Formats: sequence, structure tokens, C-alpha cells
Amino acid sequence: MNQRIYSRIIGTGGYLPEKVVTNFDLEKIVETSDAWIRERTGIEERRIAADDQTTCDLAEKASIEALKMAAINSQELDLIIVATTTPDKTFPSTACLLQTRLGNRCAPAFDIQAVCTGFVYALSVADQFIQTGMAKKVLVVGAETLSRITNWEDRNTCVLFGDGAGAVILEASTKPGILSTHIHADGQYEELLHVPSGVSKRPLTDDIAERTMSMKGNEVFKVAVNTLSSIASETLEANGMVKEDLDWLVPHQANMRIIMATAKKLKLRDDQTVITVNKHANTSSASVPMALNEAIRDGRIQRGQTLLLEAFGGGFTWGSALIKY
Ligand code: UT7
Repeated sequence: MNQRIYSRIIGTGGYLPEKVVTNFDLEKIVETSDAWIRERTGIEERRIAADDQTTCDLAEKASIEALKMAAINSQELDLIIVATTTPDKTFPSTACLLQTRLGNRCAPAFDIQAVCTGFVYALSVADQFIQTGMAKKVLVVGAETLSRITNWEDRNTCVLFGDGAGAVILEASTKPGILSTHIHADGQYEELLHVPSGVSKRPLTDDIAERTMSMKGNEVFKVAVNTLSSIASETLEANGMVKEDLDWLVPHQANMRIIMATAKKLKLRDDQTVITVNKHANTSSASVPMALNEAIRDGRIQRGQTLLLEAFGGGFTWGSALIKY
């Protein structure tokens, strides 16, 4: 029988823009308070890209860190995938722009758009390429400048989001790595969380509400909590595992209350859940890889441990990955 090929994480990286915007800063521009934001979301501050910084700039910095940790050079990559909802250009893809920046010349490169679930989708696609032998070393990035599609006059959304990038290098290996990925979508929820206009929708509009994120937060919240709990069960069952087999939850960082509800269902202690939402806010596709990178670099996540990554976002889309690190 052929030996199974796994996707093993050999490097991670992350990048946050320098500019910090605190809840107190936001109190000055919309009717809100630090107390409300902390209590309802767990967010204390977020990072915002400089005017001349793009998603690709953030992705490049995170990718360089990941390449360094993996101790490989960019020419060795044979696939580059960027998950983003905020690309630099309509085309070429941010992945193509990133490929040139990194000095890679012929690896296939493409973007994936699944909003907050984008990184998990990208990881799932990369894992299929590795398992089928189509790729051996893959760069998977989640990068966003959500501040560009934020309505800074809408308190329902502007307090929730931030900018950043996270990157992972996967390598084909006979040692365990990604055990399984699970991705889903249900487009009927389109209008609960969306940016109403895009490049093909006419008439073109200058209306800020059409060009920025709109969310029915409490309705999204309810579906997110239920869906994340069911995808955690689906993932464990698919691998013949139980809750107690998990060492870490590396969740999408949208809201501390959503994260804690998932952790509680999984009977995980607080110190088994990676939290960055307090400092990063919701960075959409960048949130899971940045959280993973932090916990690997500070030594919390150790080789041999079992990690559950999960995310939920616009679409709705949702997904998970079970990983032996
Ligand atoms: O990453 C993609 C997935 N996204 C998510 O998972 C986000 C899911 N949703 C959430 O995280 C939460 O629903 C929010 C944090 C967005 C909102 O929290 P909530 O506890 O669901 O509050 P709510 O939307 O039910 O609003 C409660 C009140 C409302 O006032 P009234 O109608 O009760 O008078 C809002 O107008 O809070 C008000 N409110 C605010 N007050 C102060 C809404 N935003 C703010 C704000 N500051 N920034």
C-alpha cells in the first residue's frame, strides 16, 4: 500500500502594521465606549495599515518570516496561495504580486476568497495539492487590509476589524501533519455579512455604505456559535478522535464570546485556546495564521501536539483543519 503523504507545517510568519488604534481612539469618532467593545467582543485595540501599505506588503513580510523559519528559499516553493478579501488589484491576484516580490518565478499562484474562512479554505486546497503529489512545498497566506472596506462612521462594524497577515509553509512528508480539513458554504446568508457592491455591479456608486462592510451582528453571532460547534464535532468524528485528544484550539478571532463558547463545547481550558482578538481584532483570513504563528513562536504549541483550527465568515463560509504539529 502507498504510504500516506501529509502536509507538514515547517514554517510560520506574521505581520501587523505599526499603527495601533485603541478603543479609546474609536470613542472619538463614533458613539461607542471602551467598556462596550471589551464586554461584547474582547477587543482592546487593532492595527491599521499605513496609507501606502497594501495587502501584498503585509503578506510579503509574513511570508519572509515563514520562509526563514522553514529555512528554504522562495524558489523552492511550488505553489503559492493567498487568501484575501482585500486584494491590491482586481487582477493580477495578490498571490501573483507576492510571487514576484519573493523572487519565485514559475510556481502556480492564485487567490482564494472565502472571507474569514479564507485561510482554512486555502490550507484545504494546499493540502489536496500535497496529498496528490502536485506540490511539495507550498506557501499559504492569509492577508487583509479590512480597514479599506470599513465604514468608519458605522459603530456596528468599525470597532470590530483590523489589518494583518499570517503565513504558513507546508511541506510534503510521511510524518503526520494536516490530518483532515473540512470546508463548507451556504450562500443563502449573503446579506447578513457583506460588502454590497463589487466590480461588476451597476450602477457604480459613491455611497460609502455600498462599498464597505455591513453586518447583522447578532444574527451572524448565533449561526457562528452553532456552526463552529458542529464543525468541531464533524472534524473529531472524521478522525475517530474525542475532545480530550485536542491540545489546542486555534480559532478565528472574531469575538471572544464566540471563541469561548466553542472552547467550552470542546471542554478545553482557557490556556488551551489561542487568543489574539484582544490585540488584533478581527483580521478575517489573517486571524487564524497569525494566532498560529504567535503560539508556535512563543513556544506554547509544541511539536507532536494536536491542533484544531476553525473559522466562520461571510458567505456564510466555515471550515476546520485538524493538525498534528
Ligand atoms: O468574522 C466573521 C464573523 N463575524 C462575527 O462572527 C461577528 C458576530 N457578531 C458579533 O460579534 C456581535 O454580534 C457584535 C459584537 C457585532 C455585536 O454584539 P451583540 O451583543 O450581538 O450586540 P447587538 O448587535 O445585539 O447590539 C446591542 C446594542 C444595540 O443597541 P440597542 O438596539 O440595544 O439600543 C446596538 O446599536 O449595542 C449597540 N451597539 C453599540 N453600542 C456601542 C452596536 N455597536 C455598538 C458599539 N458601541 N460599537
